[in-house]
Amino acid sequence: MKITKICCIGAGYVGGPTMAIIAQKCPHIQVTVVDLNAERIAAWNDEDQNNIPIYEPGLSDIVAEARGRNLFFSTDVDKAIDEAQIIFISVNTPTKTYGKGKGMAADLKYIELCARQIAKIAKDDKIVVEKSTLPVRTAEAIKSILDNTGNHVKFQILSNPEFLAEGTAVQDLLNPDRILIGGDPSAEGQEAIQALVEVYSNWVAPEKILTTNVWSSELSKLTANAFLAQRISSINALSELCEKTGADINEVARAIGTDSRIGPKFLKASVGFGGSCFQKDILNLVYIAKSYGLNEVADYWEQVIIMNDHQKKRFANKIVQTLYNTVSDKKIAFLGWAFKKDTNDTRESAAIYVANDLINEHAQIAVYDPKVSHKKVLNDLDYLESRTAEKNANAISSFDSPYEACKDAHAIAVLTEWDEFVHYDWQKIYDSMQKPAFVFDGRNILDKKALETIGFVYQGIGS
Ligand code: UDX
Ligand code: UDX
Ligand code: ADP
Repeated sequence: MKITKICCIGAGYVGGPTMAIIAQKCPHIQVTVVDLNAERIAAWNDEDQNNIPIYEPGLSDIVAEARGRNLFFSTDVDKAIDEAQIIFISVNTPTKTYGKGKGMAADLKYIELCARQIAKIAKDDKIVVEKSTLPVRTAEAIKSILDNTGNHVKFQILSNPEFLAEGTAVQDLLNPDRILIGGDPSAEGQEAIQALVEVYSNWVAPEKILTTNVWSSELSKLTANAFLAQRISSINALSELCEKTGADINEVARAIGTDSRIGPKFLKASVGFGGSCFQKDILNLVYIAKSYGLNEVADYWEQVIIMNDHQKKRFANKIVQTLYNTVSDKKIAFLGWAFKKDTNDTRESAAIYVANDLINEHAQIAVYDPKVSHKKVLNDLDYLESRTAEKNANAISSFDSPYEACKDAHAIAVLTEWDEFVHYDWQKIYDSMQKPAFVFDGRNILDKKALETIGFVYQGIGS
């Protein structure tokens, strides 16, 4: 089958960038990204390319190049479904906040709504691709909905998980380690896989395109994220031991990273991992394991989350303890709110939890993040439902300048590893702060020696 029309349901952090790259690399394919959120679609269509709703280095130029040519953003979901040969489902699958599996299982209501919508609209055969991270066997559920409520058209369900990391989405999409496509072993299933392989072949080398059955593909995505998160929790667990023993976690990480079996990546100790994927996917894995009665497997992976929560809590506690056991009415400046650098995404960011703990201790938080708005900061805190929105608004403020955020502060906490933090005029910051001036570097990015020479009391992670 020659593919000429693709649609993607969900114009978020995954759907938006992925479709922009497909459109850029496949000028012969019309790519339409649809979303129920009209505000988000309007932002994708904003004449000023800098106003697109997702900040990713390099993305706005690619959108500007393809938009209106073969890349379209629309709220007309039905029309896009009707026209497309391949439909990507890229809607959000948050952890359930209610009912059975609350706090653990993925909430599939958005996926199910999509499947029902596709079933209602489709008049000819379609390939439906799950792009969102989903619990293993979701494809089966989608298939059952499509087959039983549709207009007797044939659907092929593929699993094509996305491995891009935020902040490097464009590079990851242009140059992926692999593309994974899972499909049915039947002849029709293999044909559908081939159709999608051909799309990616426009820019990805054939040996990097792996095909598997649907379940392996779904499980591989959860496993990849679980392994990555596990590395961070492992190094973070040892960072606490380093702080007690005089070993330095950076030196340990370097020493073990040279073992080619271990490798140097993803060994940076931090205030804890965040992002929309790691925690959600592990909880998902834990939930699936438990549902099959595999309690040891579930406990093994749950420990990764327990360790991460501990790391965030430990960071907040350390600030309180070091500031003479009270932060009440003290200004604590937060450098960074995003869950990592080069993104405006704050989902599950460690900053939210650290701020929440410090506000419980009556601290005043002053945030500077180059890409995150005050509205988002407040929303993130309100979402925890720890106190009223009014109390949150009184406890936290945001600044457009790091120097203003740090002025008169008792301490600075680095929550995100933005490059610009390294290059600030730290003498100027020191001069404007309360003394002693403390820096808690939750990312180990600042120059400890230089800061101590200025007069700061510096504490990193794991040394
Ligand atoms: C992750 C996976 O990397 C990606 O393949 C998948 O598609 C989605 O989930 P993402 O969450 O965007 O991507 O970013 P990632 O770079 O993995 O970072 C996740 C969190 O771990 C961030 O909070 C980051 O700061 C933290 N981290 C990462 C560390 O604390 N230490 C490290 O060494 C690496
Ligand atoms: C290990 C370390 O590899 C080595 O660096 C250290 O100096 C001593 O401990 P060793 O125990 O000799 O070396 O063998 P290794 O190859 O690491 O295997 C250890 C065990 O893990 C074996 O039982 C092996 O069969 C098992 N293993 C290894 C697996 O089950 N799966 C794997 O993928 C790798
Ligand atoms: P991700 O990180 O997985 O891309 P996002 O939350 O950034 O998640 O994006 C998911 C998008 O999917 C949101 O913009 C949301 O409005 C959209 N969405 C959810 N359900 C539907 C639906 N049934 N039809 C169209 N869009 C949907």
